[in-house]
Amino acid sequence: MPVRVTLCVCLGVPFGQLLPLARAAEWELPDLVRETGCGGKCGLCRPYLRRMLETGETVFHEILEEVRAEPPPPRKGRKGAG
Ligand code: FES
Repeated sequence: MPVRVTLCVCLGVPFGQLLPLARAAEWELPDLVRETGCGGKCGLCRPYLRRMLETGETVFHEILEEVRAEPPPPRKGRKGAG
């Protein structure tokens, strides 16, 4: 089944409506989330919003997932303690 993602489902706002706002105000993702609420509920649209800001795309035909930062490496024990 073909994929077609075009909006923040939680707030019902199309990406095509968000992009001009974001461009005009030079928003980055945190600004867009703060100002519109999109991306601030379930968060599933966040990777699409990020891609939209990067490329100007507003219709997506693939499933995008949030990229999570790698966890920090484990700390080494202190030398000389004890
Ligand atoms: S789809 Fe945008 S916050 Fe849930």
